[in-house]
Amino acid sequence: MSTLSTNVLGIEFETPFLLASAPPTASIESIEKAFEMGWGGAVLKTITPDNLEMQEASPRYATIKEKNKVICFQNIELLSHKTVQYWVDGIKYLKTKYPTKVIIASIMAPVDRKEWQDLVKILNETPIDAFELNFSCPHGMPERNIGMAIGTSAEISILITSWVKAVATKPVFVKLTPNVTNINWIANAVERAGADGFAAINTVQSFMGINLDTLEPILNIDGYSTYGGLSGEAVKPIGFKCVAQLRQNSDLPILGMGGISNWQDAVQYIALGADVVQICTEVMLNGYGIINGLKSGLLNYLESKGFENINELKNLAVKKITSHEKLNKKYHTYPSIDKEKCIKCGKCIRVCSESEYHALDFNKDCLNLNKDICAGCSLCSHVCPQGAITMSI
Ligand SMILES: Cc1cc2nc3c(=O)[nH]c(=O)nc-3n(C[C@H](O)[C@H](O)[C@H](O)COP(=O)(O)O)c2cc1C
Repeated sequence: MSTLSTNVLGIEFETPFLLASAPPTASIESIEKAFEMGWGGAVLKTITPDNLEMQEASPRYATIKEKNKVICFQNIELLSHKTVQYWVDGIKYLKTKYPTKVIIASIMAPVDRKEWQDLVKILNETPIDAFELNFSCPHGMPERNIGMAIGTSAEISILITSWVKAVATKPVFVKLTPNVTNINWIANAVERAGADGFAAINTVQSFMGINLDTLEPILNIDGYSTYGGLSGEAVKPIGFKCVAQLRQNSDLPILGMGGISNWQDAVQYIALGADVVQICTEVMLNGYGIINGLKSGLLNYLESKGFENINELKNLAVKKITSHEKLNKKYHTYPSIDKEKCIKCGKCIRVCSESEYHALDFNKDCLNLNKDICAGCSLCSHVCPQGAITMSI
């Protein structure tokens, strides 16, 4: 029998699925509902000192859809608007009613030792399981030298991590931004400063586009807009990359996230090095109820593979990622064409000839491959509207 439960730094997780710090964790009532519906833990919407003023813009979300499904989600939302005391009372209430659920306090403050340490000391007195330092919000906050402005500077990240570690009585995860050239520059810095683990990724800085009629931004706030944070399916490959790079560089625990919408995505994050995963956008779009499919899907998968728990899955794919230099250049694939499926539209021939090679043509009305010229790049297989081309050696 497999189990979904796992232990990270002494914290017992019922399942590896956590709600990420975001609107689904912005109030105690919402988190209570999520716990009732089967979520095993939540990272609270980022708590800030009460004197940090924040004003939200409206609207604050924009999306790109494909066949009515949201594939890109952009937000310009800021942090929690609740007071610190609201969270202190709420955490105590939740932990009394749900002692087995994990609660992680996400926090952010101006670059000031006292502000960070005061916040940590107050939350130390609550039954939270860990801290998550939000060094990574890409909008609004960097203008005030916080959020991503912290997480793109190794010096400031070290400073704040060491301030927090000096007083925190619970494990400290640092939530990293993908908006850097190399996530490990900041990861190495905060690890040296004493961080107990990483959370990645926060949203990817983005701009959603322009309305062609008005030439005003799609995310239009009285004619203007700003750069926002992209999340959901579109950022999943960026999240995968960041988590794998973190794991290749460090043994610290990783709370992995970015674009998870089903159990298959979670499996991949874990195989790439995540200890547990967090989800935000998919919950915002489809509700807390997705937890049932996540749990049953992952459990069935573990059982089908003969894994007792997710530790047996963790990291298994990491060693398969290497440098380009080390890839086997003698390995050569060629397109195999399913003549039954081919409708002779010529798309594969066009892209092949207009993207460097001329390896495909029609010979007596039949698609023909010149193996001597074919680079095995696979472009033809990706553009075929019939799925008639597969790559093989
Ligand atoms: C509307 C919205 C608000 C968010 N607010 C926060 C926040 O307060 N603190 C934080 O650390 N991350 C915040 N995030 C980032 C998410 O926690 C998560 O890192 C990101 O959305 C990627 O995961 P996803 O693709 O599952 O959404 C927010 C994301 C969204 C979409």
